[in-house]
Amino acid sequence: MEKVKVGIVGCGNISDIYFTNCKKLDGLEVVACADLDLEKAHQAAANYHIEHVYTVKEMLDSKNVELIIILTPPATHASLCLEALHGGKHVYVEKPIAIKVEDGKRILELAKEKGLLVGSAPDTFLGGGIQMCRKLIDDGWIGRPVAANAFMMGHGPEAWHPNPDFFYQEGGGPLFDMGPYYLTTLIYLLGAVKRVTASARISLNERTIKSKPLYGEKIQVHTPTHISGVLDFEDGAVATLITSFDVWGSQVPRMEIHGTEGTLSVPDPNTFGGPILLKRPGVNTWEEIPIIFGCTENSRGIGVADMATAIRANGEHRANGELALHVLEIMHGLLVASESDCHYFPESTCQRPTLVHQKDF
Ligand SMILES: NC(=O)c1ccc[n+]([C@@H]2O[C@H](COP(=O)([O-])OP(=O)(O)OC[C@H]3O[C@@H](n4cnc5c(N)ncnc54)[C@H](O)[C@@H]3O)[C@@H](O)[C@H]2O)c1
Repeated sequence: MEKVKVGIVGCGNISDIYFTNCKKLDGLEVVACADLDLEKAHQAAANYHIEHVYTVKEMLDSKNVELIIILTPPATHASLCLEALHGGKHVYVEKPIAIKVEDGKRILELAKEKGLLVGSAPDTFLGGGIQMCRKLIDDGWIGRPVAANAFMMGHGPEAWHPNPDFFYQEGGGPLFDMGPYYLTTLIYLLGAVKRVTASARISLNERTIKSKPLYGEKIQVHTPTHISGVLDFEDGAVATLITSFDVWGSQVPRMEIHGTEGTLSVPDPNTFGGPILLKRPGVNTWEEIPIIFGCTENSRGIGVADMATAIRANGEHRANGELALHVLEIMHGLLVASESDCHYFPESTCQRPTLVHQKDF
């Protein structure tokens, strides 16, 4: 397969793992990088031997680049995706695909109009851990799924992220930042969501940065930092989802799926590996299930490789725009439900992407 020529926009914190993994993945060749801060782009190009350093405009105009990976803060995702599509490029964007549902819809519409593909992080569900969970569910090891619980609870990224302000603005918070991992995994395992409700709050109006180089600076919080939600899936399962930046410690599991014949303890959906534990009726202990799929290390970028295969084969890819838009609308719906004291019914839906085959990446 002829490699797909990739340009990366945004050479910040998360870009290292993309540069590293994209070099290893068949089907991808990173030919250019860009950043508002050209110094960062030059540094990345030097570190990873990238041929071209472009301004964003040059990247959009470049004949060299077929697919643009967008690794910029959430507030810039929608406009950059639309510009990339207008420039005739396929686009893969870090999560969330956009902040506003309307923008997510426009991205998908434009891609369709132009005959281009849209992909979005996370691709952790293509890792061995979640793949194995999906196979166990499909093979009937927990019977019919009836319920799930998922908890992402911590005390916020201002302790480690060098530039954490965006986490506390619209499109940030634990729901928009971490929710995509949890919701994408729940949808991958259980299918689309038909109704949501939630209570959400801002517990602290101001946060203090504890990381360098901005140590001691204050952030004003403009988005909920603790969200307790309930999701009803089209197939009938009911899930509880709590995302929080207001919790100092918690011993609850990351995610469990409960079925008529057993319970599956699902690995952290922000990782690619295990452990996976299974509890069956009549057995007192949890059994650890070996993982028979690959990509159990940090494999960020496999969603892009899957997309490259789809580009060359005119086929479908798994970390796709429809899935990302459904996730976006559920997150939006959780906040709307909390503000309006009503359930929210998403208009969007999506298919469960298929299991990965060994030959796929
Ligand atoms: N940091 C993580 O651990 C992590 C993990 C997974 C996903 N993500 C996601 O990745 C994205 C980026 O996060 P990050 O932590 O790397 O942020 P960051 O602030 O470290 O880096 C963002 C980079 O984008 C550049 N940039 C901003 N606006 C731009 C624009 N309009 N055009 C070109 N460049 C622009 C900035 O100069 C910066 O170099 C976010 O969507 C985040 O949710 C981050």
